[in-house]
Formats: sequence, structure tokens, C-alpha cells
Amino acid sequence: MTTINTTLKGVKRLETPETLELSMQVDGLRVAARRGETILLAVNAALGHVRNFEFCKERRAGFCFMGACQDCWMWTAGGERIRACTSLVEPGMTLSTSAPGPRA
Ligand code: FES
Repeated sequence: MTTINTTLKGVKRLETPETLELSMQVDGLRVAARRGETILLAVNAALGHVRNFEFCKERRAGFCFMGACQDCWMWTAGGERIRACTSLVEPGMTLSTSAPGPRA
């Protein structure tokens, strides 16, 4: 039976909890995801945002969902910037919603 997971903060998934088979860490929190899911969907579903806005205290959750707007940048544990809407979840990945260090 398909149910809506009402514990999600942002994006609502149609699924059963058993399909959340992968996990990653975002800002030190465990985020569950399905195989083949984009980082943007998984993180928005869990946290309601994917990054902190550079110019004010707003948080961003992506806009175009297709790699055009640059509103979904996240950072890996190694400091690499990745676009969440065009990157798939990989088991055990560690991501941050904030850029490492001061911006140039
Ligand atoms: S949401 Fe627009 S580039 Fe990712």
C-alpha cells in the first residue's frame, strides 16, 4: 500500500518507508533516500532546504530542478561543490548545506 510520509518537512514522497534503502549525512544528520533519487529530492524531503543563501538568512530548496538555475549547490566533505538536482544519492556520502570556509 502506498502512503504519504507525513513526517517529511518539504517535498512529500509517495512511498512506503521500506523503500528508503540508502543513507547519507547532511550537516551531521542522517538522511534516508531511495536508490536512483537525486540529492535535491532526498535532502528537501528530509530538511526542507539544500543550502543557506549567501546574501541573507534565507534557505534555498532549488528552483528549476534541471541544472539551470544554480540554486541547489551543496558541498561534499572534501569541499567539492555539487549540483543537488543533477546528482544522485550515493550510499554513505557526506554533504553540507554551507560552503566550506570564507567565500572569495
Ligand atoms: S535546482 Fe536549478 S540548478 Fe539545481
